[in-house]
Amino acid sequence: MLSQILGLIWKIPKWIIELLSWGKSFKNNPIIGNYWLNFFGLHVVRVIVAHTLFRLRLFLLSPIVPSEYRREFIENGYVLKKDFLDNKQFSKLAKELEQFEGPVREIIEGTTVTQRIFMDHKEQERAPEFKALVKNQLLDRLMRYCSSKNRPPLFYIENLCNYENVNPRPDPQRDLHADTFHPCVKAWLYIDETNDKNGAYIYVPGSHRLSRKRLKWEYKESLEACKKGRKRSSERYWDGSFRVSKDDLSEMGYQVKKLSVPANTLVIGNVYGFHCRGEALQKSKRMTVWMQARDNPFNPFFTPFPRGTARVFEKVWRRVLERLDRGKINSGEQQNFYGRLSRPKPTQVAD
Ligand SMILES: [Fe+2]
Repeated sequence: MLSQILGLIWKIPKWIIELLSWGKSFKNNPIIGNYWLNFFGLHVVRVIVAHTLFRLRLFLLSPIVPSEYRREFIENGYVLKKDFLDNKQFSKLAKELEQFEGPVREIIEGTTVTQRIFMDHKEQERAPEFKALVKNQLLDRLMRYCSSKNRPPLFYIENLCNYENVNPRPDPQRDLHADTFHPCVKAWLYIDETNDKNGAYIYVPGSHRLSRKRLKWEYKESLEACKKGRKRSSERYWDGSFRVSKDDLSEMGYQVKKLSVPANTLVIGNVYGFHCRGEALQKSKRMTVWMQARDNPFNPFFTPFPRGTARVFEKVWRRVLERLDRGKINSGEQQNFYGRLSRPKPTQVAD
């Protein structure tokens, strides 16, 4: 009994810190997942405050990015730029990534196997073309702006292997969803073209913006997410990445868009907007440089030291990944190995 009380006392500050930062789990945090607090609007207040601060930071960072990109990001929720690198540079990068050997994390999600290599600054030293991409001024500025935190993102090489795993579970990434309650970005530089065969990225333009209907939906979902056990209508509600139904989408007036893009296209998406991995029609693979930038949405400031802050985040994230690895490897969801990403054949890119 005493140990339970002490355990609870230790956990309360942790729950409060999560509440005041990026915590989103309705299951693991009893404050975030409290029905009555959400009945009186806790979740909706978090959404509104996070979005207000995001827009303020975007406004302050606007001088670092040309206006056409800002407009596209604010209106649609994503930036899409074809022919991002010149052909020669892209060709060299694609070849380097095909041949790169590093620590691979292979994660099973339904029938999909996702292979990722976390490209921290040490790994980048062994990949000169990748390092040049990280230093690309436009990419750097776009990511610092779109994240609203003035910080370069975490970098990975990602290789998506469709129908690689024979598993009756559906891939949760194929359902339209918002990653979390606050704006944050993920980005992809596509090494392969995307199409129906390998599953293009799906995004709902404009769904990153707050509207009365969206807030009403957020409120409804937050109460749903507080339900326990059998009352919960979907196993994914508890984690705070709300899934959205077709009926809800049309109720909110949104249209779904499939972003089938050629190789060498950069997409930066605000993943508060609804999105998902498109269905792949056949066994296939697609490789990207994958970038992620998530930060405390309630910190009104952005860093004045982009590089130094990125290094700190990289170090912390490496430790978090190692901790997450243990649980996922034990549950059979993940395996780690050192080597190349498995690819059917090198990507052909014209010089
Ligand atoms: Fe997502």
